[in-house]
Amino acid sequence: MPLVSMRQLLDEAAKGGYGVGAFNVNNMEQIQSIMEAARETKSPAIIQASRGARAYSQDLFLYYLMRAANELYPEIPLVMHLDHGNSFETCKSAIELGFTSVMMDGSLLPDGKTPSTFEQNVDVTRRVVEIAHEKGVTVEGEIGVLGGIEDGHGAGGTGLEHVTDPDQAVEFVEKTGVDALAIAIGTSHGAYKFTSKPDGSVLKMDILIAIHKRLPNVHLVMHGSSSVPKDLQDIINQYGGKLKPTWGVPVEEIQLGIRNGVRKINVDTDSRLAITGAIRKVFAETPEKFDPRDYLKPAREAMKKVVALRMTQFGQAGHAGDYAPISIEEMKKRYAAETLAAK
Ligand code: 13P
Repeated sequence: MPLVSMRQLLDEAAKGGYGVGAFNVNNMEQIQSIMEAARETKSPAIIQASRGARAYSQDLFLYYLMRAANELYPEIPLVMHLDHGNSFETCKSAIELGFTSVMMDGSLLPDGKTPSTFEQNVDVTRRVVEIAHEKGVTVEGEIGVLGGIEDGHGAGGTGLEHVTDPDQAVEFVEKTGVDALAIAIGTSHGAYKFTSKPDGSVLKMDILIAIHKRLPNVHLVMHGSSSVPKDLQDIINQYGGKLKPTWGVPVEEIQLGIRNGVRKINVDTDSRLAITGAIRKVFAETPEKFDPRDYLKPAREAMKKVVALRMTQFGQAGHAGDYAPISIEEMKKRYAAETLAAK
């Protein structure tokens, strides 16, 4: 099966009423964890790389690792997605490299920190949609600004400063023609999202539901959606780590989102926590070990476990074999014929 477009995966998820986790990667072990989890749970998969990941692993390493994943797991519909493209040029280079989906995060200026104006966001996103759809590639846009900072990208803050305005969301989709829309509802990147279990005062599920009512056919994306589970925090702290008490996005809230139009759920921190806990455990319990495989194997296994659990909780499990892939060439024709026009 070739790498598929994210639009196809999300259209299928909408038909089936489930969500698809989009898991961040920087290296081979993380890609292997996701593919093994996808095989075990029979899930379609979205693997995403940020600008930071592309710089860390180099584009070509990443590209060929993704191609290898695709070849070794032919039964899994697999999307290679750019997370938080900061500019037209970043998205263009990802499309040229072979990513089948890109996020143009025009909610921030190209510095990846300063919130942009609505007009600036529309302008850059629309230009990316133009070049992406010409090549059959999917585009995710963002309206409203997330909190926190990830890999140097982000406005910081709690995530409540720039919650998405539902009216603007409608106008943004109309003016840009994006395939998927990331919204800001109080979540933020990283481990420190909430200081207690979040309620409606900090996690604005009511805004998400209002946006879905206005845009019932648009695929919504929840960023900053790690649940930061206590058991993963505890393993890290038990073996010498120093995480402060923190709360993530409860899985039940994500499931409520999925019932209200959320089709893509971004998860990075939970994988990072699982990996770090597993490595700390090996270092603490067997300090005489020095073969990287001794700690990377358990790390890979720990990440696989949390990813497989999320795939099951998001509902994508069991859906890998539901549909035949539509080639990127065919997607190109469908965009040109406007059968995939903005909804
Ligand atoms: P977390 O930090 O909650 O995993 O969010 C990741 C993310 O949204 C990547 O874009």
